[in-house]
Order: sequence, then structure tokens, then C-alpha cells
Amino acid sequence: MSIVAKRVVLQSDEFKVVAYHNINSEMDQNEIESWQKLIRVLTHEIKNSVIPISTLTEVISHMVTQEDGSNLSLSSLSEEDEKDIRKSLQTIEKRSKGLVKFVSSYGDLAKIPQPQLEEFDIKNLIRQIISLEKTEANKKDIKISFSSGKKEVIIKADPQLLEQVLINLIKNAIEALNGQKDGEVTVFMEQSEQLTSIKIKDNGPGMDQEILNNIFIPFFTTKKGGSGIGLSLSRQIIRAHKGNLKVSSKLGEGSVFEITL
Ligand SMILES: Nc1ncnc2c1ncn2[C@@H]1O[C@H](COP(=O)(O)OP(=O)(O)OP(=O)(O)O)[C@@H](O)[C@H]1O
Ligand SMILES: [Mg+2]
Repeated sequence: MSIVAKRVVLQSDEFKVVAYHNINSEMDQNEIESWQKLIRVLTHEIKNSVIPISTLTEVISHMVTQEDGSNLSLSSLSEEDEKDIRKSLQTIEKRSKGLVKFVSSYGDLAKIPQPQLEEFDIKNLIRQIISLEKTEANKKDIKISFSSGKKEVIIKADPQLLEQVLINLIKNAIEALNGQKDGEVTVFMEQSEQLTSIKIKDNGPGMDQEILNNIFIPFFTTKKGGSGIGLSLSRQIIRAHKGNLKVSSKLGEGSVFEITL
């Protein structure tokens, strides 16, 4: 990689990425595009929260000011105006709390803990997660299966972090099958001398190329109420283990996420 220098500047109300780089290699170009996409998502989220806060404070300020610019006594406000002000204050509170939550989750993404490696049976962990997720899946008529023999599969990894990744991937698979008949999530595992591979497969709607290009970018989501953190966090965790998290997907057929460690 040959990025020489990179800086981000804020221009008027829009973020703009200014990058000094050598764009000869495809890697650099992809990285710059990821930055630009991330900043677009951040800008969108921040604007969505801040614009109503700014508009509502302006409205309230106007309501408590007389035409000559002097303060209006609050006791002279009509009942209706008072009600409006209370409602606006509630919205401001909700939006600003939402923004704080969003910013904290962004902070969480930036500080993935160093994996605490230990040897454990990954099959056992997968079984435990599946039995927890089964309740949710059964409610939606979705089958989850894990084909594994009796033999344990010992890996060296951080069990808590790996559990987080597996939960994210299994949840995504279940969410993709929402409302679909014959929905099925299958977890496969293989271990050779050098590698352990865990695949989470669903027969959901799959993703088109445009979505596939974006799913690992922080805050990218197509779900109402989704935070878009699950996959980028999962990829960071797997990379911190020096492993890989890959996806393949076909529209109308489903998706497979593969962890290799
Ligand atoms: N198995 C899947 N099938 C189809 N689309 C998927 C699948 N897994 C992920 N996606 C797509 O990738 C996007 C990003 O997933 P990610 O887990 O990062 O965020 P999310 O599920 O939207 O929100 P959350 O942060 O709450 O998990 C999803 O919104 C969805 O569009
Ligand atoms: Mg998710």
C-alpha cells in the first residue's frame, strides 16, 4: 500500500475527503472509496439528528422573544405555545441522546480489544449460540442446523469476541429470512491442519453487487432500525485474530459468510 498522506477536512456543512495518494494501485483506490462512503454515512446520520435540533431551538427561541427582540415573559405564553415548547424540548432531548449513542457506538468500533487467546471447543460455542437463537428463529418458522460430528474442534481464539461475531452473522441470516417460507440457516465447519473454516449460510434474498460493496462499511444498513455495525465490527474482530471474514451471495438464492482462522 502506498498512501503517502491522508487528511480529512470539514467544508461548510459537508464533509469532504481530501486524500493525497498514489492511485496506481487498486488497493489505494478502494481504501479511499471506503473513507468517502464512511464519511457520507456519518454525515447523513449526524445531519439527521442535528438539523431538527437546530430547527426546533430556533422555533422555541422565536416563541419566547418579542418582536422588538426583548424577552417574552414565559407566564404570558398561550397554553398551546407552552405545549409546543414542551414537545419540541422532548424531541430535542430524544435526538441529542440518539446522537450521543451513535457517537459512542462509533467510539466502540475504534477500540476493539486485543484478543485474549485461549484454546476452546468452537463446536460447543456454536451449539450454545444456536440454542439461544433458535427460540427467535422458531417464532419466525426458520430452521437452524449445525452439522457436526461428536469430535470436538479446538481452536485458539478469544471466545467472547468470536461469540460476538457468530451472533452477528447468525442474527443477520435470521433477519434476512424474515417473512420468508422455508427459511433455513445452516452452519458448517471444517478444520484442516492449518485452517478452521466456519460458514453461515442462508437461503434468503441474497444481495446485489451494490449492497455487497458496502456491507463491511461501518454504519451501512438496509434495515429499519439497524445500526450497520455488526459486520464491520465482526470483520475487525476476525482481522485482529489474523483471520478472514468473506462473503458470497447470489440474488434470490442466499448468502454465505465464511470465517477462516
Ligand atoms: N445474510 C444476509 N443476507 C442479506 N443481507 C445481509 C445479510 N447479512 C448482512 N446483510 C446486509 O448487510 C447490511 C449490514 O449488516 P450489519 O450486520 O453490519 O448491520 P445491520 O444488520 O443492518 O445492523 P446491526 O448493526 O444491528 O447488525 C445489512 O443491513 C444487510 O443489508
Ligand atoms: Mg446485523
